Amino acid sequence: MKWKHMAALGVALAVLPVFVPAQNLVNRTDSVYLFSYATVQDAGRSGLQFAWSRDARQWFRIGGGYVRCDYGTWGAEKRMIKPHLMRAADGMWHCVWQLNDKGLEMGHAASADLLSWKRQTYFLKGQTEGEQSAPDFTSLNKEKKVSALVDGALYEGYMQKVAWPEVDRMLEYAGYRAEKGRLDAECTAQDAGRFSGLEEVNMQLDVRPGDAYPISDKLIGVFFEDINYGADGGLYAELVQNRDFEYSAADQSRERWDGSYAWSVQGSGGSFSVVEGDDPVHPNNPHYAVFDVQTPGVMLKNGGFDGIVLKKGEKYDFSLFGRIPSGYKGGKVDVLLLDKEGRKVGGTSVRITSDRWKRQKAVLKAEADVSAASLVLVPQTAGKYEFDVVSLFPQKTFKERKNGLRPDLAQAIADLHPRFMRFPGGCVAHGDGIDNIYDWKGSIGPLETRKPLRNLWGYHQTRGLGYFEYFQFCEDMGAEPVPVLAAGVPCQNSAYEQDKLLSGGQQGGIPMEQMDAYVQDVLDLVEYANGDPKTSKWAKMRADAGHPEPFDLKYIGIGNEDLITDVFEARFSKIFKAVSEKYPDITVIGTVGPFYEGTDYEEGWDLATRLKVPMVDEHYYNTPGWFVNNQDFYDRYNRSGSKVYLGEYAAHLPGRPNNIETALSEALYLTSVERNGDVVTMSSYAPLLAKEGHTQWNPDLIYFNNREVKPTVGYYTQLLFGQNSGDTYLPSDRTTDNNRTDVNRRIATSVIRDSRSGDVIIKLVNLLPVAVETEINCPGLPEGEAVLNVLKGDPSDKTARPVEQTLRVGERFGYELPAYSLSVIRVVGSAPSVR
Ligand code: AHR
Repeated sequence: MKWKHMAALGVALAVLPVFVPAQNLVNRTDSVYLFSYATVQDAGRSGLQFAWSRDARQWFRIGGGYVRCDYGTWGAEKRMIKPHLMRAADGMWHCVWQLNDKGLEMGHAASADLLSWKRQTYFLKGQTEGEQSAPDFTSLNKEKKVSALVDGALYEGYMQKVAWPEVDRMLEYAGYRAEKGRLDAECTAQDAGRFSGLEEVNMQLDVRPGDAYPISDKLIGVFFEDINYGADGGLYAELVQNRDFEYSAADQSRERWDGSYAWSVQGSGGSFSVVEGDDPVHPNNPHYAVFDVQTPGVMLKNGGFDGIVLKKGEKYDFSLFGRIPSGYKGGKVDVLLLDKEGRKVGGTSVRITSDRWKRQKAVLKAEADVSAASLVLVPQTAGKYEFDVVSLFPQKTFKERKNGLRPDLAQAIADLHPRFMRFPGGCVAHGDGIDNIYDWKGSIGPLETRKPLRNLWGYHQTRGLGYFEYFQFCEDMGAEPVPVLAAGVPCQNSAYEQDKLLSGGQQGGIPMEQMDAYVQDVLDLVEYANGDPKTSKWAKMRADAGHPEPFDLKYIGIGNEDLITDVFEARFSKIFKAVSEKYPDITVIGTVGPFYEGTDYEEGWDLATRLKVPMVDEHYYNTPGWFVNNQDFYDRYNRSGSKVYLGEYAAHLPGRPNNIETALSEALYLTSVERNGDVVTMSSYAPLLAKEGHTQWNPDLIYFNNREVKPTVGYYTQLLFGQNSGDTYLPSDRTTDNNRTDVNRRIATSVIRDSRSGDVIIKLVNLLPVAVETEINCPGLPEGEAVLNVLKGDPSDKTARPVEQTLRVGERFGYELPAYSLSVIRVVGSAPSVR
């Protein structure tokens, strides 16, 4: 509990003097009243609010929301009910509130200035023992509840007398937030007004190769998560949906989402059911189908994921586990591919006669191009048939891997030249509740032994795309694998379990007595990836899967956007210590919450600094205005602290499009990431993939359907940065003939060198509605033709693509940045003075 930490810091509350009323601590003439309350209209979801008054009658609103309840799911929970603000004799503020209407579960947070708040704790009223126990309130004042009229509405809350400067500081902060909100809301829709009459800007860029410094060579990577049907039905090339009959009503609330989903009986004289019988193919896969055939010819059909795409002449590997229940004989089962009209476009047959599960395999050849075919199983003899793990896999996968990836999608990802890939997700990794944490061990081994998992985005994970396939994909792309594992706590928005106290949010961390086993699982992952198959059971599993050589794992992420609480700290610290002691060469990546500021960010950084975590994973989805106005975000960072992995970011506009405006604001920001490549080691846009018609989150980088891959404009920003990455930053001086801050913030440049090729790469971003005529001076740059790629369009353009051309360059050359554009100039091989 926080109280214990404070005691450890020497703030022993037990010996604190009793509370001295605030009016005795301050100059009376300077004191005013501070009223704290929660808005009832939204059940306290806006957090703690403040108003001030001279006479405790007329109240002026200050604002608030600097502390909000973080407990439970968004929408349903995260309520701050009846907050009670109290002050300790040391001046520290403490706020205690009810988490829900029951009034048994409480939250607590403390603050020195009412603006920045420490981590939250949740406890049961009166519980004084255990990991989640009530703070000691004896030293706090207990002001009486009062009512106050604020902006015409009557609120109940608590009133304190405080020194005027305290309120003054709060008002100043509220003003700062308002100004910040205005900058964050800046967007190109305002450009006609903001930049009316703006003439072409002239710029001079003077590169200083002599001041070059090294930057990370892994700046651009990808973050893969099974969201938006990114894996099953997406990147994973399996064509049969619900092949394992393990879909379950618990996966989501959609009607008829159960073990029979995507399957149906066609024709008469047969019925089919999904059972959880004795002796399944594998205990991890307990359900299977029983097809009762009275009239041969009746078919069991699977419609795939929105149909099965077939390409004429291509081959498909079919397999299933089949068994005949006692009392039946079985026989030949035709396996057919049918088009929408029911015409056969491919076929083969297998024999199922054994009373024990046996895997049957066959190869089918597509006789036509079909956009939405189905697979049918047609027993030729009456009787009962049991089926499981029914699979149809194209032989053409990315790099021809068995159980591999859809080649067009995988290639689109590989084309980004990602230097790493984070997997298997953000929220998917830490899961919606402890039982939903992604256990990597359940995702490896033969397909029938893999443990299916509810996907918290509202569907099902077969985990046919599991850790082995992720590692292999990384290797095939030349990307470093960056697996992320839960820090022993599930998603901070995990559902609140009815009638189970303190089960919301992350208060359901893995019980400490089970953490040793969890830590061992994390350590075993390193063995699986890097160990020797002769000595390690886990490495042997890797070898058995076809990869005796190590995968050369260098990074492990622990945690994802977690609430930084005591529950989190205890578990994270245990994992971190174990991994860094046993594998000092592995870089552990910690987590600092879902935003670029706030309690989790501050507490996460504080913890990382105390534990000396080598790298932390930052996430922020912000407006284009934020990205434009915070290009100095990493320039403000300590150069010798933990490194940063910007693991999830994207520019979000209302309506969530992915267009030139979002893509260019990301490009502007990426030039600042390159400049700060001594602190920022890696970055990845999020999310990566989204299937049309099955999208839970927008915008994404690559949209797709069964036939097409549709990269977005933002994809091309990533591609231009990924394909033009380097390892050395060449600082430059930039002067323009316009001294407006809003104009200059919309122009960004970055000059880097790739020492492997010797190439110098100049990136120029212009988010202005006018061109920027530029003179570039780069001592030592060889004269010749450079490759120029330009991505440009109207801000709302969603279809723009980079156009490649050539540009004459030298030590001094001119180039006009078109309005709303990203230009990348690549100068092949540079002269020694640029080196
Ligand atoms: O990228 C989508 C989600 O955003 C991730 O799962 C989570 O980490 C973040 O909240």
